[in-house]
Amino acid sequence: MKKEKKTSKTITDSTVDPDVLAYTVGDDPVLDLDLAVWDCMGTAAHVTMLSEMKGLKRPVVTKREAATVRRELGGIAALAEKGEFEIRVEDQDVHMAVERMLTERLGDLGKKIHTGRSRNDQVAVDVRLHMKDQILRTEAETVALAAELRAFGIRGGRTPLVGRTHLQPAMPSSVEMWATGHSEMVLDQLENLEAAYRLADLNPLGSAAGYGVPLPLDRRRTTELLAFSRPIHNCFGASMARGECEASLLSALAQLMAVLSRVAEDMILFSMPEFAYFRLPREYCTGSSIMPQKFNPDVLELMRSKAAQVLGLQTSALSLLHAMPGGYNRDLQDCKWLYMKGLSIARQTQRILAKVVAGTTVDAGRCRAAFTPGVFATDVALRMVAAGTPWRDAYHDVREQFAALYDGRPAEVAQMDPDDAVAAKTHEGTTGGIDHDLYAKREAEALESVSRRLGVLYAAKRSLLK
Ligand code: ARG
Repeated sequence: MKKEKKTSKTITDSTVDPDVLAYTVGDDPVLDLDLAVWDCMGTAAHVTMLSEMKGLKRPVVTKREAATVRRELGGIAALAEKGEFEIRVEDQDVHMAVERMLTERLGDLGKKIHTGRSRNDQVAVDVRLHMKDQILRTEAETVALAAELRAFGIRGGRTPLVGRTHLQPAMPSSVEMWATGHSEMVLDQLENLEAAYRLADLNPLGSAAGYGVPLPLDRRRTTELLAFSRPIHNCFGASMARGECEASLLSALAQLMAVLSRVAEDMILFSMPEFAYFRLPREYCTGSSIMPQKFNPDVLELMRSKAAQVLGLQTSALSLLHAMPGGYNRDLQDCKWLYMKGLSIARQTQRILAKVVAGTTVDAGRCRAAFTPGVFATDVALRMVAAGTPWRDAYHDVREQFAALYDGRPAEVAQMDPDDAVAAKTHEGTTGGIDHDLYAKREAEALESVSRRLGVLYAAKRSLLK
């Protein structure tokens, strides 16, 4: 006797084994919720373009019908923004959930919206719109963190801080130099985020399954409607570009996280009782279940592990892409989780780090007390140079005094005052030559550019989804 096979019906009208369906759908019903608004926007642009298509005997959809579809899409997007949009397992993903809803509401008109499009170019558009929005928001937070580090530098000012190489005391530095140095590294991460943004800013719509369609699609028109910088010219290339911008973004995020984790590591070290240069706010420290004296910097430690995680996500994305055959492959669906997770970790980390930096205080006494004679060794040798001694002779002279000290022989090492040493270095970018205006200008320009581009993106969204 033949056993009846259990299957599930989907919008594509295929019958799929429920276990296989669940496996292939994966986390899309949850992850795609973040794409819902962008999916509506992409569909609105596609339908608008369909209604304007020239050279057809009969329009696929009329302009009036396109307006009706846009209105419904506006309603669906509003539901998504309120958190009331639902993707069922039978829908598989946001794309078919939206099509189902439009068909429920508009009948035959809803069934026309997918004309000349594939979920392959559809999801690629959604991801890129979502990414553009997210990258810009990430950039604004990156600038906020850089500004918070700089504010810490202004508060700490020229408080002397031992500069280290190999973790060993090296040369006089200052709290300002430490903080603005990290701030500048954070700000530089905008370059990598911008590279990812430029890739995300290309329009794959109209490539359909990756080979175009025998319809006079106007890919320039959807590019304009969706506020992309230009279309990805080659349809096959457009299908392969999926995953590439996710990997580029993850690379930028992994690098950003590496920078954040170095700030975190310095703060862990400098707030150790043995250093005690910095004091972390008590409410940002966590205790021990057995040791009552503990105020641990868990929040900063986790930034190291999260940096490792994001690097892992980047590696996953590249591993997923490498040696994948040309054209769409379902593997690409798994890129979605990777970049979304990377964004959420990196954004949360930079927000929390900004908060910790804002609450951290400097113990100027401990900072000054850490200046052992060795920290001034180079400066002392350079003082001898100023008095006429050739550099290498001065170097050996001072080195001999410190070698004696190291070996426990009697030695007379010259000392300096930490504050004088900090003030004595005045060239560009050293302790006495940090230019805050330069940083303030970069921060302001970056924020201006972010808000201008968010404005363009949201204006396009508003005009498509009334
Ligand atoms: N959820 C799918 C993804 O993210 C949509 C595209 C499905 N395309 C296909 N040919 N099965 O990749």
